[in-house]
Amino acid sequence: MTNQQFFETKNVNYKVYDEIKKEQEHVGYYNLAIQEVEEIQEYAKTIRKKNIVIVGIGGSTLGTYAVYEFLKYSREFDKNIIFCESTDPVLISSNLNNLDYSDTMFLIVSKSGNTIETISIFKYILSLVEFNSDNFIILSDKNSSLHKLSLDKDVKFFEIPSNVGGRFSVLSTVGLVPLALMGVDIKKLLLGAKNIKDDFFNQGDIYENLIKKANFYAMNTRKHNINCLFSYSEAFRGFNSWYVQLWGESLGKKQIHSSLNVGLTPIGLIGPTDQHSFLQLIVEGNRDKSVTFLKVKDFKSKIKIPDISIEHLGHLDYINGTDFSSLINMQADSIIKSLSNLGDIPLDIIEIDEINEETIGELFYYYELLTSIVAKFLDVNAYDQPGVEDGKEILRGSFD
Ligand code: PA5
Repeated sequence: MTNQQFFETKNVNYKVYDEIKKEQEHVGYYNLAIQEVEEIQEYAKTIRKKNIVIVGIGGSTLGTYAVYEFLKYSREFDKNIIFCESTDPVLISSNLNNLDYSDTMFLIVSKSGNTIETISIFKYILSLVEFNSDNFIILSDKNSSLHKLSLDKDVKFFEIPSNVGGRFSVLSTVGLVPLALMGVDIKKLLLGAKNIKDDFFNQGDIYENLIKKANFYAMNTRKHNINCLFSYSEAFRGFNSWYVQLWGESLGKKQIHSSLNVGLTPIGLIGPTDQHSFLQLIVEGNRDKSVTFLKVKDFKSKIKIPDISIEHLGHLDYINGTDFSSLINMQADSIIKSLSNLGDIPLDIIEIDEINEETIGELFYYYELLTSIVAKFLDVNAYDQPGVEDGKEILRGSFD
């Protein structure tokens, strides 16, 4: 992947690198790129069931969902995949009520093992299916209530490393187990992450690029406090959602050394659809946004706009014969040019070579690193989320 930045960065503070290097000693996600995965791959081969239901929410599913959405247009998966993330009754019924349970494996994914959404759906499933090793896999923290339950019933258990937080966990068992079951090449996924890791920690191009960018975002946190990720492919819909969670839940905090509330607001956009929606707000609205364009160099598609003239529409014949892959990238480039002509919107472009496991592995690791570095500059703890606890307590109280 490449990243071109079109904003000026002054007085970049590279000292943050030492803090990130030190953080590797206790924050687990940094080293997930270099783990052994044979055991997961071997286990995945033993699962013959056709349907996989993934039950979890937030960091326990969004990464898996991002890979699923990313690859689903260009390949067949080995299984039918169903995500059960929400307590929405309409969705639960539609996801679960017409399934062949005898041909379904349920993955219950919860680091804490206490999340209301996950446990309430788990209970609903238990009203339909017996809890045993033929039907269930549990992914959770060691010694959590879910782990204990799996031990009681001899159900397959995968540990989520204790030093890997939910939204940083896609490259842990949280993502690797369901993705291996789908037939995704998880070694390539990790290879992509390793490419970025090696470059950053060997102080290559990505190192300089990430620190400059993080520095810029942090310096401009009051002025350009909204970061739009404008992704030019439907394949990025899941990735955008993953980015929104990572950025929002990691960076919207009280500062560690003061009680000041800070944060950067993530917006996920898809081109060209959102050219007909959000773009107007970027072009003529408040100058509070930066925009990152995310592009695919080679879509591996040859479909073209045919050489057809339509009566009364001859003035649009100039598009005839153009590949759709060229068209979508020309559209992205036109918007980049138009925004850059304005001169007061910070822009950058990330381009990946093609849609595959390695490139999404690169994107995951790139954005995780970027988030950690921005957090250092903003003086916030990227890895907790105290702000969500109160709502959970209020919900608990409403059952009394
Ligand atoms: O990033 C996080 O830590 C959260 O979004 C969690 O992933 C989410 O709340 C789900 O938590 P758990 O995996 O404990 O069920």
